[in-house]
Amino acid sequence: MPNIKILDHAGNTRMIEASIGESLMEAAVRNAIPGIDADCGGACACATCHVYVDEAFLEKVGTAEDMEQSMLDFAERVQPNSRLACQILLSDKLEGVIAKQLNTVLRPNCGPNKLSFPNRFLSRIPNGAPHTLMQTSDSLSKNSSVHDIHLG
Ligand code: FES
Repeated sequence: MPNIKILDHAGNTRMIEASIGESLMEAAVRNAIPGIDADCGGACACATCHVYVDEAFLEKVGTAEDMEQSMLDFAERVQPNSRLACQILLSDKLEGVIAKQLNTVLRPNCGPNKLSFPNRFLSRIPNGAPHTLMQTSDSLSKNSSVHDIHLG
C-alpha cells in the first residue's frame, strides 16, 4: 500500500494511502484532494488530473504514453514532469512518490469547476468514447457555456 505525498498549489502537503492497482487520480479523489477534478473519470480525455511529478520520482513513475502525451499537448502549464494522474498506476515501487497538483487546468471558457472542450480537442475524442465522458458532456451542456459538443 504505497503512501503518496500531494503538494497543493498553496504549498500544503497531504499524505494519502493508496491501494495497489488504483491510479494516482483515483487515490487523490478518494482522499478528497482538491483540484484533481477528474472530469472524464480517468478516460485520459480532460487533463483535469494534471500533476507535476517530483523530479526525484520521474524515472520510477515513467513517461506518458502517446494518448496521454496527446492530451497533455492541450493542457496548460505543461512542464517536462507533467503527467495525468489517471494514467499513473500505483504500485509498491511508488512508495513515497511526490506529486504537485495544479489549481486550474484546461478550462479557459467556463467558470470555476467547469470544463470546456476546445473544438480542436473534440476532434480527438475517438468513436465509442467511454460512458463517463458521455456523462460529462451531458452535464457540460447543462452547466457550461459549451453548446457545440458532438461525440461519436
Ligand atoms: Fe481526465 Fe485524467 S481524469 S484525463
